Amino acid sequence: MTMDNKNHLHAPVPQDTRASTASVSSMPSLSPREQKPISNPYLPLQTRVETIRVETDDRMLRTFIVRFIRPDDVERFRYRPGQFAEVSLLGRGEAPIGIASSPTEGDALAFTIHRAGIVTTAIHQLRPGDLLGVRGPLGNGFPIERLEGCNLVIIGGGFAFTTLRSLAVYAMAPHHRGRFGRITILYGARRPGLLLYRSELREWQERSDIEVFVTVDAAEGEWSGRVGFVPAVTKDVAPGSDNAFALVCGPPMMIKYTLPILSDLGFPPERILLSLEMRMKCGIGICGRCNIGPKYVCRDGPVFSLAELKKLPPEY
Ligand SMILES: Cc1cc2nc3c(=O)[nH]c(=O)nc-3n(C[C@H](O)[C@H](O)[C@H](O)COP(=O)(O)OP(=O)(O)OC[C@H]3O[C@@H](n4cnc5c(N)ncnc54)[C@H](O)[C@@H]3O)c2cc1C
Ligand code: FES
Repeated sequence: MTMDNKNHLHAPVPQDTRASTASVSSMPSLSPREQKPISNPYLPLQTRVETIRVETDDRMLRTFIVRFIRPDDVERFRYRPGQFAEVSLLGRGEAPIGIASSPTEGDALAFTIHRAGIVTTAIHQLRPGDLLGVRGPLGNGFPIERLEGCNLVIIGGGFAFTTLRSLAVYAMAPHHRGRFGRITILYGARRPGLLLYRSELREWQERSDIEVFVTVDAAEGEWSGRVGFVPAVTKDVAPGSDNAFALVCGPPMMIKYTLPILSDLGFPPERILLSLEMRMKCGIGICGRCNIGPKYVCRDGPVFSLAELKKLPPEY
């Protein structure tokens, strides 16, 4: 699975005729033109849950590693960091969830899911071997081509870190690392037990080719790391803005106080990229549920530059 996907970013994902129940032998043979895949952007691809990892001590966040049942769906679902999928359970519904894995990690997908309501609670009850529908990939994702050759300052808070994790893993992959400059990761949670991907963060902190700063709002237990809000830590440790992009995902309050600091550090609005979360339904720019002015967050985003957001009505 590669991210060099030029055609899917704003287009429905091509699907095939797998929903048909007619027996193959009773069907007339199709001309090559008729054999083209049917494009139904609402059909989920079937995956099977392989592993479930409880991420936080309150057990509200779990990472689900899933694998496509049909091998050719891997190719159909080529994605880039920053994209999301509509994840579904039969009889329960679907919810938009950012893709936490990186395409560099192989064919499995990871979703880190907060138990919020009907769909996500039902997903939390799944066991390895159960089925999960995945519709996508959706949205624009991070503009990897623009980021190449630049320094990356990745700033995340709480469980919005998922797609930033995808980007970080992508940029740190051995065959990609040389395509990016300095990589700085700042990640914070309210307390140590709410940090995602803890063992991975420890491994990242050991690396000499990236800088990783992990912080919590309030220490507890044996925490000996940094204590402080993400915006304050950004002010203390973020490198300069020369040839850099800042990529920011987190709760609104964190974003509100981080943006002026990035501005003070000299990041122009075009080089501050944010990933938005809005209520969504179709995920493909049809239902009109997620628009901000003329933009659909599901189709034109969820990743926007601050410069783009400044031109939109202030819904977000
Ligand atoms: C692009 C995108 C990426 C997302 N990525 C992730 C992710 O990686 N992990 C994750 O856990 N969640 C993510 N979310 C949020 C997730 O989609 C919602 O939590 C989910 O839809 C709730 O569905 P539900 O049926 O379980 O809850 P519901 O029963 O629909 O609602 C439960 C509660 O959640 C609130 N809610 C519902 N939808 C949203 C929403 N879109 N944003 C904020 N609050 C909402 C409702 O108002 C209600 O209070 C993402 C949302 C978007 C738009
Ligand atoms: S969710 Fe339907 S237009 Fe965005």
